[in-house]
Amino acid sequence: MNRTVNYNLLVRQLQSLTANIPYEITNLSNASALLWDVLGDINWAGFYKMVDGALILYPFQGKPACTRIQVGRGVCGTAVAEDRTQLVPDVHQFPGHIACDSASNSEIVVPIHVNGQIWGVLDIDSPYLDRFTEEDKAGLEQFVKTLEGILER
Ligand code: SME
Repeated sequence: MNRTVNYNLLVRQLQSLTANIPYEITNLSNASALLWDVLGDINWAGFYKMVDGALILYPFQGKPACTRIQVGRGVCGTAVAEDRTQLVPDVHQFPGHIACDSASNSEIVVPIHVNGQIWGVLDIDSPYLDRFTEEDKAGLEQFVKTLEGILER
């Protein structure tokens, strides 16, 4: 399928879905459903939030997933430890990758900040190797920047 995403449109959809809604889990639920609906060739899309020093499973779409990930562990924990996006073309080559769904072959994880503090991560998995491009990375970072503004209000 065509994997090209209009990220400017995606951001506007996120803004309109969350307008005037002050509830974090409500907004994250719709944010994960929006990504699930718009991005092709993915098998998981959702959030982990920092709670008591670890990443805890938050709203998502896809198969049941690991509920708690330590900082520094897996792709998600590495994104927090290094405080930067992890674009992983082949998860089987990533040291310590945590396999929640054995169908996953590539992954992207973007750190989320709220009021200058690490809040958690956006995590998206694909059953295809090398699914995510630099364009997806830039677009998803733009998506997260918008989401950060929504979580701050
Ligand atoms: N693969 C992730 C774990 C979360 S699942 O993909 C939903 C990781 O290595 O951190």
